[in-house]
Amino acid sequence: MKRSHHCGELSLTHVNQTVTLAGWVASRRDHGGVIFIDIRDRYGLTQIVFDSEENAPLHAIADRLRNEYVIAITGKVSERPEESHNPHLPTGSIEIRAHELDVLNESIPLPFTAEDDVQTSESLRLEYRYLDLRRPKMQQLLQLRSQVSHLTRNFLHEHQFLEIETPILTKSTPEGARDYLVPSRVSPGEFFALPQSPQLFKQILMIGGMDRYFQIARCFRDEDLRLDRQPEFTQIDLEMSFVDREDIIQLIETLIRLIFKETKQIEFPNPLPRLTYEEAMGRYGTDKPDLRFDLPLQDLSEFAKSCDFQVFRRAIESGGMVKSLIIPNGAAFTRNRIDNLIDTAKEFGAKGLAWVKISEDGKLDSSIAKFLNTEALRAALPSANPGDLLLFVADQARVVHQVLGRLRLLLGEELELIDRTRWEALWVVDFPMFEYDDTSQRHVALHHPFTAPHTEDIPLLDSEPLHAKTLAYDLVLNGFELGGGSIRIHSPRMQEKVFDLLKISKEEAKEKFGFLLNALESGAPPHGGIALGLDRLIMLLGQTESIRDTIPFPKTQKAQCLMTHAPSSVSPEQLQELSIRTTTKKPAAS
Ligand code: AMO
Ligand code: AMP
Repeated sequence: MKRSHHCGELSLTHVNQTVTLAGWVASRRDHGGVIFIDIRDRYGLTQIVFDSEENAPLHAIADRLRNEYVIAITGKVSERPEESHNPHLPTGSIEIRAHELDVLNESIPLPFTAEDDVQTSESLRLEYRYLDLRRPKMQQLLQLRSQVSHLTRNFLHEHQFLEIETPILTKSTPEGARDYLVPSRVSPGEFFALPQSPQLFKQILMIGGMDRYFQIARCFRDEDLRLDRQPEFTQIDLEMSFVDREDIIQLIETLIRLIFKETKQIEFPNPLPRLTYEEAMGRYGTDKPDLRFDLPLQDLSEFAKSCDFQVFRRAIESGGMVKSLIIPNGAAFTRNRIDNLIDTAKEFGAKGLAWVKISEDGKLDSSIAKFLNTEALRAALPSANPGDLLLFVADQARVVHQVLGRLRLLLGEELELIDRTRWEALWVVDFPMFEYDDTSQRHVALHHPFTAPHTEDIPLLDSEPLHAKTLAYDLVLNGFELGGGSIRIHSPRMQEKVFDLLKISKEEAKEKFGFLLNALESGAPPHGGIALGLDRLIMLLGQTESIRDTIPFPKTQKAQCLMTHAPSSVSPEQLQELSIRTTTKKPAAS
């Protein structure tokens, strides 16, 4: 019995045709002499009827069917009785009156049902991923992922990009996370690293004259996992020669517009808005602002300079700042709620969180009200109204932005200020080239050390490197970093200088990046590129909360695969062959 149609295909136009369908038993309802089976495949669901009066032996077989049995049926398409039409189902007007049934495979009873509103833990879903993948939501997400890859490939091929693979067993590239290492059997004691991204290879491909490269590339980073991070993830990775920043931004905007329009009929303004890193940090406390709501950070440093509140004044005197969030109608917050916000602010790294309620008559209501001049404060915050709550953090800029940026998001959620129907994409540009890392007491690259500075900022590398800005750009969507890239350094002298500023010694640079430096000496064209996180893109486009839903076989928060139980121990022989001795007490598998 070969299927003639799939399970989402039949409608009133097929009535009276004899058809064969194959799929999984999604449900079985026994109405005395009549059994209804919903049969499911990737395309949909169709109702099958087994009537004991029409065919008693077949009805008896249908009686033994259970969820997730794999069956093929042949029967006649007929219109459902008027009152049984299901307008929510594309096949809801018809049913198949079966006259043949083939049980292709049975299934043991499974721990949850393959339905969208399944009430089960994620760990069980991951352990039984094959069952989970049968849920319509998962099927739609993987179809979306396939559609996006397809659109991307076609688009880039049309734009003269070559699809080129780069090694998985490689030398580590400094993307900033920990490497996954793979021991070499033939070079005892030596390791490959899995690529954190194809960064250096794609630059070398430009030096190799490929002009336009792309790859839907798997990347590996051993970092702390969050809701939008996986240890193994996929980038839409590309690189172009003889281009400037505008060329790459233009190309990616066109691609993003195409993907969102084709898959979800979502349109973006043209061009996308841009913020400088400084503007984004200053106004939203983050370099990936969620612009679906406003609630901007307000700078109160001028006011703080001359106020009587010690905490504020001292912050300014020691080179810091004071910023505030105006919470609309927040004066109604209870003391308890405010105390919770203070605790949260401290968890985010603040020393404290000062607050002031503006009462309906415009007076300030707060334990620190006596230190504040009402008129001066109201003048400094003209958009604050009676009934609002003001929250203040006084500290170094980094702390103020970090804490208020996170409180802004938290309160945006809690107060339901985020419009979930909006799609707010933007570019963040002009990142500083370096940050100063207090722990290691040296400059670190904000993006990666191959990012080119703005031409006019090159002199700053000698005088004030922390003020030098780069030709990097991040694409942000609804508060998530969707992608990042830059124009690269193509001059070997400049690359050496940057390694120097990063306190990477000549020897270390030669050992780690000698091949790049040599290649840069050998006729490197100006070039630049970008990588978009495909998993994150699907997460946002598919409106699912977890990046794990977009990956068929993802890892948990602890970087484990619950289905295969990877990682796992290996035999002593395998370890010996690799010249490896472990220090854990866990017994090795035999
Ligand atoms: P970057 O490190 O910013 O840049 O990565 C690019 C994009 O990849 C996605 N991404 C991740 N997605 C899921 N899980 C992760 N652990 C993860 N880490 C990153 C993000 C991010 O914006 N070589 C450079 C690109 C370039 O300069 O061309 C790079 O890898 O969406
Ligand atoms: P204190 O003088 O430490 O008792 O603090 C008085 C008020 O100022 C309390 O409400 C603190 O939460 C708040 N506060 C303390 N440090 C800071 C800070 N760095 N930024 C904002 N508010 C602070």
